[in-house]
Amino acid sequence: MKLSRRTFLGSTAAMLALPNFGNAAVNRLTASEISAQILPSGQPQTDMLGFNGVSPGPEIRVKQGEAVRVQFQNSLQEGSAIHWHGIRLNNAMDGVPVMTQDLVNPGDTFDYSFTPPDAGTYWYHSHYISYEQVARGLYGPLIVEEQSPPDVDHDITAVIDDWRVERNGQLDDDFGNRHDMSHGGRMGNFARAILSKTQVQAGDRIRLRMINAATARVFPIKLNGLEGNVVALDGMAVSQPLPLSNLVLAPAQRMDVIVDVVGTPEIVFASRDGDYLLRSLSVEGTNTERTKSDIPALPQPDLTKPNLKGAQKLTMKLQGGAMGRRHGGDDLWALNDVSGLPSKPFGSFKAGETALITLVNDSSFPHGMHLHGHHFQEVNSDGSLGNYRDTTLVEARQSQIIACVFDNPGRWLFHCHMLGHQAAGMKTWVAVA
Ligand code: C2O
Ligand code: CU
Repeated sequence: MKLSRRTFLGSTAAMLALPNFGNAAVNRLTASEISAQILPSGQPQTDMLGFNGVSPGPEIRVKQGEAVRVQFQNSLQEGSAIHWHGIRLNNAMDGVPVMTQDLVNPGDTFDYSFTPPDAGTYWYHSHYISYEQVARGLYGPLIVEEQSPPDVDHDITAVIDDWRVERNGQLDDDFGNRHDMSHGGRMGNFARAILSKTQVQAGDRIRLRMINAATARVFPIKLNGLEGNVVALDGMAVSQPLPLSNLVLAPAQRMDVIVDVVGTPEIVFASRDGDYLLRSLSVEGTNTERTKSDIPALPQPDLTKPNLKGAQKLTMKLQGGAMGRRHGGDDLWALNDVSGLPSKPFGSFKAGETALITLVNDSSFPHGMHLHGHHFQEVNSDGSLGNYRDTTLVEARQSQIIACVFDNPGRWLFHCHMLGHQAAGMKTWVAVA
């Protein structure tokens, strides 16, 4: 197989003998340089960063209400810190160097401990030089199970990513490329889904938890050989089950589906150049026990309802990039004319206060805007409240209103999860007291 960008990402890459990740109780995460078989077997290994020797790092799995206690050991040559993406946790555990904790220097450790209040699909990742450390592989899944999980035969996690790989199997190391940063971000030339389990039976019911760990790529997803519904977005149960059509995963977003195996299951990246297989499951045997029944729904999230009448109204302009208009910031990207963290927060809220924030994308690229420590609701075009998210995709030249109850005290980042955009100015913060 030739590793040119077109053939590599444009055609069906062989997907044989790829590693899976395990799931044992995790109480220590050691970040280090690793070597991994990212490319199909027979191709060279790739030097990356990982946790406990692997990338994605080990799956952390707890029950709702159960504590996560992890000692982070930094065995890298540079600082780092772990952010628990999407978890509504104590500010001090949020893993943002300087803002919520000191940088964890090489050789040092940091103890994280929090109890996730919500069941769902989350992930953890480095929050230091993240456009490089995440692109090199410093992330892993964090699963919080419902007290009584839905009845399925398999609960499978799929971490989706793309990598920019050279012919020798090594990652292109130009992570800070300003051309990438001023456009859509660093796109890989090789993409795949890494699954916790790959073998099923015909007729099985699967809960599939998809996580987009890519630093820039928005994945339109098609699921073949599977029938069912989307049951959760960004960890939170959707208010109504959604059909399996027009599935989109922006960077950092998650999507849970509950599906029945009706053919050969395939997770497909519906790219503009055609379908690109991210991973298939192998089907052996038939499940004769399972009888036909409706796809179960998940318990609804238990979050404070917004008070829209008394809401504080704010506007956030997403500015900059190639083919963008002038803005007042001093870097490639800006939010309300400021590049990088402003000294004053974008918003200040009394704990429990509702805000309606209009995100106006005044640029030529999509942005996946992520708020730390909270989930918000996307407001539909008819004004009704949509599903909960922690990362919302705002397409080029479009706007998205979000409603958020700021009930978690602390200083929280709000930034683009196209991580090169974040590094080049697209970040701000809010204060909740
Ligand atoms: Cu998943 Cu501030 O990031
Ligand atoms: Cu962006």
